[in-house]
Amino acid sequence: MSYKQIKNILKLNPNSQNIIVKGWVKTFRANRFISLNDGSCIENIQCVVDFETMKSEILEKINTGTSLKIHGSLIKSMGKGQNLEIKVTDIKILGECDIETYPIQPKKHSLEFLRENAHLRIRTNTFGAIMRIRSNISFSIHKFFKEKGFYYVNTPIITGSDAEGAGEMFKVTTLDLKNIPIDKKNMVNYESDFFSKETNLTVSGQLEAESLAMGLGNVYTFGPTFRAENSNTSRHLAEFWMIEPEMAFYDLNDNMNLAESFIKSILKNLIVECENDLNFLKNRLEQEDKMKPQKDRNELNLIERLNFVVNNDFEKITYSDAFEILKNCKLNKKKKFKYIIDKWGVDFQSEHERYLVEKHFKKPVIVYDYPAKIKAFYMRMNDDNKTVKAMDILFPGIGEIVGGSQREERLDVLKSRIKELKIDQKELWWYLDLRKYGSVKHSGFGLGLERLILFSTGMTNIRDVIPFPRTPRNAEF
Ligand code: 4AD
Repeated sequence: MSYKQIKNILKLNPNSQNIIVKGWVKTFRANRFISLNDGSCIENIQCVVDFETMKSEILEKINTGTSLKIHGSLIKSMGKGQNLEIKVTDIKILGECDIETYPIQPKKHSLEFLRENAHLRIRTNTFGAIMRIRSNISFSIHKFFKEKGFYYVNTPIITGSDAEGAGEMFKVTTLDLKNIPIDKKNMVNYESDFFSKETNLTVSGQLEAESLAMGLGNVYTFGPTFRAENSNTSRHLAEFWMIEPEMAFYDLNDNMNLAESFIKSILKNLIVECENDLNFLKNRLEQEDKMKPQKDRNELNLIERLNFVVNNDFEKITYSDAFEILKNCKLNKKKKFKYIIDKWGVDFQSEHERYLVEKHFKKPVIVYDYPAKIKAFYMRMNDDNKTVKAMDILFPGIGEIVGGSQREERLDVLKSRIKELKIDQKELWWYLDLRKYGSVKHSGFGLGLERLILFSTGMTNIRDVIPFPRTPRNAEF
């Protein structure tokens, strides 16, 4: 007799074979029907107990949350709602559950309540489905790059350079915070700190990935990144996972095409491999939609939305053209945007990005050739000397999901950009070396894993797609 995961048991024929399952009780009805889940899939297996022969001291201990090992035979179910069930011959209580205090009762809980109980929320159908989808997407990402001949590289989490400018950083130090050494200029003296210099948690592995691409060709990173911005929004985390491919010899166009086929490939795999979890989340969203006024309801269901992205070309548009659309749209003219679009060169806010995607084009949009002034120093300057070869991919309901660019490969232009932006050139000595020794055209982008999962699951708060979210004033668990 072997122990099997429920997802495998559900594929078996009901030939009365002996089976062992282990899992957590979802519900226990009529002292007879145990609905058991082991996390391997969204489905539970029904285990039917003969309460006349089963010891009452065992039955008394079974309730929602109890962990069990069950022996029994797999038979065709006589009841409605499932094809198979286990006729129980023996039950072992693995761990009792205090039903009086157990937060995850068999009823609908609010997402806020579940966030406060993030250590237990994985036992709900919703979070089980989300985390299985997260796992599937992570594997698909590696699969995609492996098949394309990319190398997976690991860039440092503790970084000595804070030059990228992608966001506020968390400091890493072993200095005694009650007794911080000060130098002659009244600044922190890092000489006695662990690394003898100021260090931070990385906001991106890009600069190091560029170095690795200049020898390995095509590489990608997939790791945690940290931003200390105080942005308490439903799309920002202080710790999030980013995938950053970096490709030698790619121009901006190659970069945009890769990003589009990358996202499509991940979603395509997901639709095939996570059908049941997606169906559960689709139904969940439909229930939620019913509570909303007609105008706020989703036109497409979750699976239709995923298919729509897979089957349609993303719209590619320059910043300047997008600027014209936004400037001339009714919302802008009627001053309905919080930030009015008036002068060329303004950065688009989430409300503008979402207008382009949700109202104007009604599909994912890639905006490229942004004003140099609002983008990072390393982006390739265009011949107009005003715009850089940057691109952002904008998604419905999310806004920016990818940010990337062709990189400035010309040493002189890069140096003058660094000077213009008053960045300390000394800190970037090794990055500049890459332009001195066999520099080539190259490009890359960063995809926020949690933003892609938001889109894939139809969830609306980024705190619900990472097991233990880190946000301002929140580092519980
Ligand atoms: O646009 P960003 O800042 O780009 C970079 O960091 C580049 N170095 C990437 C590169 O070219 N290699 O961030 C990239 C993506 C965003 O599009 C977004 O999806 C995600 O990372 N992101 C966040 N996700 C969650 N919480 C945050 N605070 C995020 N900030 C960025």
